[in-house]
Amino acid sequence: MTLRPRIAIVTGSGLELGGLLDRPVWEKPFSAFEHCSPAQVAGHPGTFAAGECAGVPLILQRGRRHIYEGIGFDELTAPVRALAAMGVECVVFTNAAGGLLPELEPGHLLAVERVITWPCRRWPEQPGELLPDWLVPACDATGVYAWVHGPSYETRAEIGALRSMGAGAVGMSTAPEMAAAHRLGLRTAVVSCITNTCCRVQRLTHDHVLATARDASARLCALLRNALPDFR
Ligand code: HPA
Repeated sequence: MTLRPRIAIVTGSGLELGGLLDRPVWEKPFSAFEHCSPAQVAGHPGTFAAGECAGVPLILQRGRRHIYEGIGFDELTAPVRALAAMGVECVVFTNAAGGLLPELEPGHLLAVERVITWPCRRWPEQPGELLPDWLVPACDATGVYAWVHGPSYETRAEIGALRSMGAGAVGMSTAPEMAAAHRLGLRTAVVSCITNTCCRVQRLTHDHVLATARDASARLCALLRNALPDFR
């Protein structure tokens, strides 16, 4: 079967969105695609899978690279260029994020209306803000996602600063890929899965983030399945 996928979903840490593919057609490792290096962080399988979701041809990018892995912008964003080469026009970036607003609880889904990058410049022509083209409907809340370098989680002072900047969620991904996608003329949307609340004192580990993301995956799958046909 020849698929012409217009839409891609990129899955964040621990998110298992394989349920979106009704009829998986193929799955290949990142390394099968030009300039794409293997994913290295737990919760990031590092594959592309193709199939259909409710009749809509779809590519699922399972996992991603991060700047904190010590790689540059070009290596990190090679999967975005691979998606564009496959004919994808619209990308939904999902991610795991810490909630900065008191009303955001673990498992909540945040439709991102703005992405900000903070605190320092980490890649060439890094924009201070990025605007998604589409707001994914039916999420629990809408808000601003702040990209930070990582890999350490934020101090109380950083959390205070991020909140005063208007950020509703904080995470270590998505912004570089979004910048690359926009440079290629792709349309973007972003959903954050809140895996922990930064509003209370927390002892946070990557395993905790993965477990919460895994638990929220079925709901995110259902939400995206309903929403995807409207992403143009
Ligand atoms: N901070 C940064 N990145 C994250 C967090 C967090 O609290 N939770 C999941 N990814």
